[in-house]
Amino acid sequence: MPDDVVITEALIDALRSSRHVCVLTGSGISAESGVPTFREAQSGLWEKYDPQQLATPEAFVDDPALIWKWYRWRRDLVTKVEPNAGHRALVDLQAYVNEFTLITQNVDGLHQRAGSQNVIEFHGNLFEDRCFVEGCVVTNSKDSSDEVPTCPACGGNLRPGVVWFGEAIPKNALHDATKAASDCDLFFSIGTSSLVWPAAGLAETARANGATIVEINPKSTPLSSMSNFCFNDLAGTVLPELLLRLRASG
Ligand code: OAD
Repeated sequence: MPDDVVITEALIDALRSSRHVCVLTGSGISAESGVPTFREAQSGLWEKYDPQQLATPEAFVDDPALIWKWYRWRRDLVTKVEPNAGHRALVDLQAYVNEFTLITQNVDGLHQRAGSQNVIEFHGNLFEDRCFVEGCVVTNSKDSSDEVPTCPACGGNLRPGVVWFGEAIPKNALHDATKAASDCDLFFSIGTSSLVWPAAGLAETARANGATIVEINPKSTPLSSMSNFCFNDLAGTVLPELLLRLRASG
């Protein structure tokens, strides 16, 4: 453990006495697994594209084959990586608290692969297919490596089941996440730039309802100055240390 990760008694006490812990994660928690964060420059084939321009319904209408190529590349990348110490520590943390809600902006499914249950997927799921025309989820679609898959019911194009820029958050996810943020007394914001709304508003909702805010991110974000505990370090370093301290506290 680096010397600079100091888990204070005050944070351990806050965890021990908390009634409901709510955690929001962003792409930073998967960075140590080898998944590039959303705003990081892409590498290789996709270097010249800006993810913010590919992840839109307009880009899909313009060139569905290109967008599918990008998502198949992302699916392939995510399939080949493993959850890391940060994901695993969140699975263990659940056992130490009364009520625990995990909300993720990530579409990679790594929390679930680590063993987290009832994860609220705020931005959908990379491995789900949905009909672009009717919005229904399609399972077992016939996905070939170079064609745009189509809906068996209506013949329209299928799309990945993620939320794109300009699209609404799935109703249940928005409802459950907002409820948890309003109800919790301890809110963790981990590996997110806190720039994308409405996800970024969850911490503000929690704070407005009196929750203690903990941020874990090597870089400062708009949330940093509003946080009660701020760790400028990697999730895969801070979270396992937090667990160690929690276990040692009895
Ligand atoms: P970003 O790429 O905006 O931010 C990732 C954050 O993770 C940055 O603030 C990094 O400093 C931080 N970070 C990097 N490595 C880390 C580590 N090992 N431990 C902790 N933090 C680390 O990604 P998000 O905030 O997740 O939405 O982006 C939010 C949403 O923006 C995404 O879900 C996506 C995008 O628009 C949609 O596609 C709708």
